[in-house]
Amino acid sequence: MKRAGLLITLEGIDGTGKSTQVRLLTNWLRRQGYEVLATREPGGTRVGEQIRGILLSSSNHGLIPLAELALMYAARAQHLEEVVRPALARGKIVVSDRFNDASFAYQGYGRRLGEGPVRVLDELICGPTQPNLTIVLDAPPRLAFKRAACRASGVRSRRFETAGLPFHRRVRKGYLEVARRAPRRVKVVRADGPVNEVQEEIRAVVSEFLAETERRIRQA
Ligand code: TYD
Repeated sequence: MKRAGLLITLEGIDGTGKSTQVRLLTNWLRRQGYEVLATREPGGTRVGEQIRGILLSSSNHGLIPLAELALMYAARAQHLEEVVRPALARGKIVVSDRFNDASFAYQGYGRRLGEGPVRVLDELICGPTQPNLTIVLDAPPRLAFKRAACRASGVRSRRFETAGLPFHRRVRKGYLEVARRAPRRVKVVRADGPVNEVQEEIRAVVSEFLAETERRIRQA
């Protein structure tokens, strides 16, 4: 088994096919000989999944943006302690379906809280445990929104997926801003093509990142 201790996060507006891509990436990394832990936010722990229920339930339309942000970070604190940090310490690659950039994009930009409150909580709760590589799946909000709304009309309508097109446009802007500020860590991959083509591009980005990481370790 190759040891790594790296945190890779996948992000993007709702409806970009992110969860499928996370699954394919995880399987591929395992075939490359890495020990991989796949997880997701909000959730990933027993307490976190309960918080996720509160956050996604459409009956909680009265949840104010700051409470939403605090709940995201409450779930994240639990996730970091129980799942992410122990796995990193054991040399695994942690692949998380969303992580802290989602709070910048959704709560900071989408809900218009700005980055101040997000940064305060992030320093407190994530501190130095930041993603080593983040892939933002990018698709035109109209397309992604249509896919997500389709899905949401099923079992239960979910708060974020029914939040409206202008909201998702702001979220996308948030992600692109995150990528603009941290171009080494955050890579934008277009997600409006076929699943296997998107996956090919994700693998290319991850391969390049792993090769670069190994080079750096050898030089140190
Ligand atoms: P996700 O699990 O990606 O949804 P799905 O089950 O449809 O794949 O995420 C659930 C929602 O939570 C998503 O609409 C984005 C939102 N979210 C935030 O608003 N802030 C955050 O920090 C995180 C992690 C997620």
